[in-house]
Amino acid sequence: MSKLITLHEFIMDRQSDFPFATGELSRLLNDISIASKIVNKDVSRAGLMENILGSQGKTNVQGEEQQKLDVIADNAFINIFKAGGEVCGIASEENDDFMPFTSELSKNGKYVVLFDPLDGSSNIDVNVSIGTIFSIYRRKSEIGTEATIDDMLQPGEKQVAAGYVLYGSSTMLVYTTGNGVNGFTLDPSIGEFCLSHPNMKMPEEGRIYSVNEGNINICDSGIKRYIEDFCQKTLPKAMRPYSGRYIGSLVADFHRNLIKGGIYIYPKTTTNPEGKLRLLYECNPLAFIAEQAGGKATDGFQPVLSIKPKSLHQRIGYFVGSKKMMEQAMSYMK
Ligand code: AHG
Ligand code: MN
Ligand code: MN
Repeated sequence: MSKLITLHEFIMDRQSDFPFATGELSRLLNDISIASKIVNKDVSRAGLMENILGSQGKTNVQGEEQQKLDVIADNAFINIFKAGGEVCGIASEENDDFMPFTSELSKNGKYVVLFDPLDGSSNIDVNVSIGTIFSIYRRKSEIGTEATIDDMLQPGEKQVAAGYVLYGSSTMLVYTTGNGVNGFTLDPSIGEFCLSHPNMKMPEEGRIYSVNEGNINICDSGIKRYIEDFCQKTLPKAMRPYSGRYIGSLVADFHRNLIKGGIYIYPKTTTNPEGKLRLLYECNPLAFIAEQAGGKATDGFQPVLSIKPKSLHQRIGYFVGSKKMMEQAMSYMK
């Protein structure tokens, strides 16, 4: 049997890829893996615990009902970032505003983290895969001061690292620091993430499309035509160009398409005229991973990573997936 490489070992080995690295990013990535193990523990026993499962009884700033696990996960990550000292502030889908950390330790942190603590929260109650998505930037403000809104509103191309944790049939952590994408599976018997998917590549072409077809009549006519052309239900199965798979947890849909090849689309609709998915917490980190794996991500017209964010909770129409499938889909958007 070949030697298991733990996430911790892998991160340490990769530190040498960054000239002048001081180890802070490595420590931050390790902290993320620890927080995700804490969240994983709660996710795996959610069905047994009244204090974990169900609604929090409040809505977040985006008007969405908060689940208890949304808040548990948010706190787990915030607490670890506050204690670590690498991060000077965060922004999260579950908080109204960004949060500068005020301790002297944190004010000296080099990084900000933007994250979706629990993605796919409508799937918590029904034991379907959910996830955490994170995006790391180097701060723009001066070290030693409090983080500012400008630290948070950087275009995705400035990300220094991004990743996600998938709490699925097994728990996985997938991340990039701009030098390829690697995936690690949590071995519950030793409590360690171990390298299981080295150098992940998204197939150039695939057969899976992931879109909420309930929205077909409230989205742009280009998308409607695309879905009709590629997902024609009237064709015999053997002739059907694509096959539909939609979990409703972006992380899980993205992860499947990353491995098997596919396209995920959440377009602007009349009910969500700006789009549904959040640029900073969902679209940018997965776009960085997709591009690093050879795929593409756009808002239908321009690369997601080039968009200059205007506000924290900004939403966009989102297209992400295999290169050739993306090119085909884009041609319908003209
Ligand atoms: P979140 O649970 O973080 O609010 O994200 C939900 C998102 C995303 O995970 C998913 O792909 C999409 O919303 C599903 O939306 P629909 O139910 O409208 O298809
Ligand atoms: Mn989400
Ligand atoms: Mn969420």
